[in-house]
Amino acid sequence: MEGGFIGNEAYQQHFKTKDYLKTYMSFGSGDCDVLFSNVMDKLHKTFITDGIKGKTLIDIGSGPSIYQLLSACESFQEIIATDFLEQNREEMQKWLKKDPDAFDWTPMVKYVCQLEGNREKWMEKEEKLRKTIKQVLKCDVTLANPLDPLVIQPVSCVLSTFCLESASKDLPAHRSVMKNVGSLVKPGGHLILVLAVRTNYYMVGQDKFSCVYLEPEMVENAVKDAGFEIVCSEVLQATIPLAIANAQETIFLVAQKPNKTHGPSIYQLLSTCESFREIIATDFVDQNQEEMQKWLKKDPEAFDWTPMVKYVCQLEGDREKWMEKEEKLRKTIKQVLKCDVTLANPLDPLVVQPVTCVLSTFCLEAACKDLPTYRSALKNVGSLVKPGGHLIFVVALEETYYLVGQRKFSCLYLDPGMVEDAVKEAGFEILCFEMLDMKFPLALTDGQRVGFLVAQKCNEA
Ligand SMILES: C[S@@+](CC[C@H](N)C(=O)[O-])C[C@H]1O[C@@H](n2cnc3c(N)ncnc32)[C@H](O)[C@@H]1O
Repeated sequence: MEGGFIGNEAYQQHFKTKDYLKTYMSFGSGDCDVLFSNVMDKLHKTFITDGIKGKTLIDIGSGPSIYQLLSACESFQEIIATDFLEQNREEMQKWLKKDPDAFDWTPMVKYVCQLEGNREKWMEKEEKLRKTIKQVLKCDVTLANPLDPLVIQPVSCVLSTFCLESASKDLPAHRSVMKNVGSLVKPGGHLILVLAVRTNYYMVGQDKFSCVYLEPEMVENAVKDAGFEIVCSEVLQATIPLAIANAQETIFLVAQKPNKTHGPSIYQLLSTCESFREIIATDFVDQNQEEMQKWLKKDPEAFDWTPMVKYVCQLEGDREKWMEKEEKLRKTIKQVLKCDVTLANPLDPLVVQPVTCVLSTFCLEAACKDLPTYRSALKNVGSLVKPGGHLIFVVALEETYYLVGQRKFSCLYLDPGMVEDAVKEAGFEILCFEMLDMKFPLALTDGQRVGFLVAQKCNEA
């Protein structure tokens, strides 16, 4: 087999599982020890030290290998291993069933146990991994649903080591493979990738298998394009004999799919809809607007607001009226628009007549990088209120960050005086400004106080 892209058929014919294991996985006496110890170190850090965990992890293109799952089995309740090739899936099954002919992974198992603090626990570790791998499935990353014909609910984590570069013939194919694989991750979940970069082949026995040539930025861009935010990305160096592969660099990347369910909230509108004939909801982030639309359209995947709806109904005297309340709010929200509070007209390109009331909860402090930006954002938002109308603000005070999933978002530090000055400067008279003490865990935010402010726009002279 020489030159060109090695596609699915050639893989089936030429990929010799035993040769692959002998060349790459003879840990302790092989040419690839540095490479694989680097990868296992990183996986240990990711799953154990950084604590990425969840219910289900899918390993895409597992091949006959289990080394990549040794740390993951401590953090996930179930693992689904997958590969395109039957011979690889069979080899994995052999190990799961303790077939005497199965490959001996103990050197790698012991290495990971040592990272975890006790090299002697390798037999327990093997048992744990065997119990955690619940299925070994066929997959083809070139399909929109790589597990076709199986359709599964997106999972907390997808891992893939040294597969996506070998399954893509060129950059466009690589980008689409990334989207296919990324579609298996649920919002808030992680994608963990190990790929050989700046390479174009690897050997299995006498057969050469192609890899798409990738610069690290190409991988990162494909990941972002698939809808992920990169949490960390690192290039690992390891020298491998050219007779095995011209891969001296490996990218280790952790990315997260933004959690859409934290998106635009409706709790702040539950009382509002009793006092206003129409509400215009706005958000800067497209997926937040989409999430709100889901709730408005009663999409079964929409966030469940009923506990908060019931709470407000109870305040209003009848907790049982929560379904009516939801209907009322759905009818009152007339539009969901994009807005950007840093623009002079936050609803640009739309121009609306100033309205009776503008409400904003936990928004400006998250959207503004410094105090001058905050003061001007307040004027921008204030310009939407007509003279005599009200501005109602809920603002996180003395906060510098908040977390959504694993991701930290910065927040502008504001004390009550800064808020008051900005509100007055925007042409409002403060009617009330109350401080509410919060007891948020530091793992969520460092803000411990919330300001509740009602202001009225001064009538023009
Ligand atoms: C270099 S091996 C890596 C195996 C394993 N992840 C590891 O780290 O040892 C590449 C794997 O990609 C799989 N593969 C190739 N094309 C594929 C495709 N279209 N879909 C899924 N897997 C594929 C091969 O069967 C092979 O097991």
